[in-house]
Amino acid sequence: MSTITLDRYADVRDAFRRHELAQALYDAGGVVMADCLLVLHGAEHRVRRRVENRLFRRGTFRHWEREFLRDVVVDTLRPFTTTGRADLIELGYRTIMTLTAMVAGVDRPTGSDAETDALYRLAKKFSEGATLVHTTRDPDEVRAEVAAALDEFDRVFLQPSIARRTALLERLAAGEIEESDLPRDVLTALLRHREELGISDDAIRRECAFYLQAGSHSTADAFSHAADDWFAWSARDPEAAETSRNDPALLQACVYETLRLHPASPVAQRRAEAPIALRNGTEVPAGAVVVLDIAAANRDATVFDRPEEYDPTRAVPAEVPRWGHAFGGGMHACIGTELAGGVPMAAAEDGQQVLGTVTLMLEALLAAGARPDPEHPAQRDPHSARDHFASYPVLFS
Ligand code: HEM
Repeated sequence: MSTITLDRYADVRDAFRRHELAQALYDAGGVVMADCLLVLHGAEHRVRRRVENRLFRRGTFRHWEREFLRDVVVDTLRPFTTTGRADLIELGYRTIMTLTAMVAGVDRPTGSDAETDALYRLAKKFSEGATLVHTTRDPDEVRAEVAAALDEFDRVFLQPSIARRTALLERLAAGEIEESDLPRDVLTALLRHREELGISDDAIRRECAFYLQAGSHSTADAFSHAADDWFAWSARDPEAAETSRNDPALLQACVYETLRLHPASPVAQRRAEAPIALRNGTEVPAGAVVVLDIAAANRDATVFDRPEEYDPTRAVPAEVPRWGHAFGGGMHACIGTELAGGVPMAAAEDGQQVLGTVTLMLEALLAAGARPDPEHPAQRDPHSARDHFASYPVLFS
């Protein structure tokens, strides 16, 4: 079967918006990804997305950011600054774990570090399962580990979370509580609409596991790269980098520049359900695989001047987001864009910027005086062909 690779910004944008192109990147990752929002197509995707989208209404994350996001970030960082060192991968996961568990609807009965670590271990395993297509390990071995992690997740976290929500939904039906008393999370939405969605217990389990890993892995990855890029910028141009410490909008532009240069998902992949002609004239036969090379498109020189350069102050065309295609586009566009990336000042209604989790994390890290540990340089992930750090030790001054 033919494979067509698109690496120009405009072509990738066009392909993201074509309804004839269905998700094809996660076929190998079915153990955790089967029937998840990201792999559904057509009407099934539309109905599931509508149900889940309600949780991600504009304004929700601005409210979160005002009320508690900063505290979560600073509280998670504190024990590390006390000991004087941290690993950015662990720190990133620990911070985002609390938030993605809230979004997914996975209760944290004790809120202890041991519980966060258990979720972190499970999310990492789910992520390994989802990206099986890129693994350099024995795929069957990975699949068995992911299946065991799903069982543990179900037993320890999901069943108690389902029981609590089912009881609340019964009380709502009996008129004992109000709509506003329900938790606003994916699990509650799925349980509430399970007949309309025709969703099985197994699919609910995979959807929550998928959210846990989709939200945490990409955010932790963006955070480690954002810090790495910032440290390199500060070594090259200390004066410019220093100004960003007290300028949240510039720090957010730093994060967007990192997302452009190191998208957590460097490629998206689709399969043509019907023959189509792309706007650039390419004829795509039915069944062909289309690779959307996000990493290459984000370095398209016709859109981004000096594309290889990390320049947070760069000018970009008005219709192009600073992160390029890092959050995808079209029907599968990232549902967590605003939570992770915030809203750029230029797009913020009533001038109230939402910084997003990654910027809040970078801001707190720099405020704590973090710098790379000269004795223990960062390591790339040897088990993935993707551009991930496996560890990134830092020291605090
Ligand atoms: C820096 C952080 C993040 C990045 C770079 C990122 C990137 C992406 C990309 C590229 C896609 C589309 C993939 C494709 O089209 O094949 C996507 C989809 C998705 N993301 Fe994110 N993501 C991030 C954070 C989050 C967070 C925090 C959540 C939730 C808590 C989340 C939930 C999702 C979901 C549910 C989808 C599937 C949407 C659909 O299929 O309709 N992401 N993300």
